[in-house]
Amino acid sequence: MAKFLLLGSGELGKEFTIAAQRIAQTVIAVDSYKNAPAMQVADGFEVINMLDGDALDKIVAKHQPDFIVPEVESIRTERFYDYEKQGIKVVPSAKAANYTMNRKAIRDLAAKDLNLKTAGYRYATSLETLQQSIKEIGLPCVIKPLMSSSGKGQSLIKTQDQIEKAWNYALEGSRGDLVEVIVEEFIKFDYEITLLTVTQNNGNTLFCPAIGHRQEDGDYRESWQPATMKDAHLETAQKMAAEVTQALGGAGIWGVEFFVSEENGVYFSELSPRPHDTGMATLANTQNFNEFELHLRAILSLPISEVTLERAGASAVILAKEHLDHPEVKGLEKIAAEEKSDFRVFGKPISRPNRRMGVVLTYDEKTKNPEEIAQRAKELASKVYVE
Ligand SMILES: Nc1ncnc2c1ncn2[C@@H]1O[C@H](COP(=O)(O)OP(=O)(O)OP(=O)(O)O)[C@@H](O)[C@H]1O
Ligand SMILES: [Mg+2]
Repeated sequence: MAKFLLLGSGELGKEFTIAAQRIAQTVIAVDSYKNAPAMQVADGFEVINMLDGDALDKIVAKHQPDFIVPEVESIRTERFYDYEKQGIKVVPSAKAANYTMNRKAIRDLAAKDLNLKTAGYRYATSLETLQQSIKEIGLPCVIKPLMSSSGKGQSLIKTQDQIEKAWNYALEGSRGDLVEVIVEEFIKFDYEITLLTVTQNNGNTLFCPAIGHRQEDGDYRESWQPATMKDAHLETAQKMAAEVTQALGGAGIWGVEFFVSEENGVYFSELSPRPHDTGMATLANTQNFNEFELHLRAILSLPISEVTLERAGASAVILAKEHLDHPEVKGLEKIAAEEKSDFRVFGKPISRPNRRMGVVLTYDEKTKNPEEIAQRAKELASKVYVE
């Protein structure tokens, strides 16, 4: 039996913990607040600021885990290299977690070292260099803090006069005190996908059927599987995902994000070395194993011979509208009454505007249109509310 120190205890960590509990593993769930979703189902918990390296060292020493499983980016990942030296397996690897928490590290690896196609980009450390970078990249463009997630501090710029505001917004949305942004060429993609990729210690790299998704205000709203796409584009994405995951190293599931333009092809965007939020579509039992079970098996070196598509499915998020202290998701009976649908409620102890509180799942036969299945999930999600 293995012991996992789960760093981040949100909905993805909760599903991972449930998968681990089902095969009698031990999970200590960590986050910055008590009663976080994964803590509700774990064997133990710790409340710390995960950006505090000393606090991390302490709980690692206390629990002596076999595996450290990051669920979020926002962790003092530099310490992961030490834990690896101590013989603890960092999932999927210290390098993967450390590189992906900073857009610069991962973008340079992908674009420069591996020569993957990405949006054109520059970095800027001041308003002046930002203006110069935007001249080079052209308008429209996207500005992002180097360290942020869920669209925090991110803006789409269409005109010169928006630059200063975007610079300030990026600094406000930046994790820590890093004063640097990335400016990316705006890609007019036709659609975007997450390619869940499984790397194994003693086996082939496997790809889940691509997941399509729609983003709004920096977070996904619906995701569906399989995404409808040309074989050639899928193969290109798979090749890129294999290269970048190999360069980062280790075993586990990865959410590799791509933009696809019929005219210009496939662009690598970014990746997370862990289950991906859009991958919650797999909770609709679209695959032989959902993304959390795949992650767990890969970590434990349990061989995964194949990933199969069992049916088409989708997820749509249930968002809170306001801050509430004991939020409840109401109206679930309306979803329950519908055929081929399901839901998860995460049990977050407080809500905030746009905080994800649950997810609606819909599914149908493989031959059905996944985007229509997603539309159904979206409609069902609009029937529930948080109060
Ligand atoms: N260069 C770009 N061109 C066009 N759209 C973009 C570009 N960069 C980002 N976007 C849009 O914004 C979304 C969020 O961007 P990105 O994934 O880089 O941000 P993030 O903060 O890391 O988000 P998350 O952590 O939720 O994945 C993308 O999924 C895409 O819809
Ligand atoms: Mg993203």
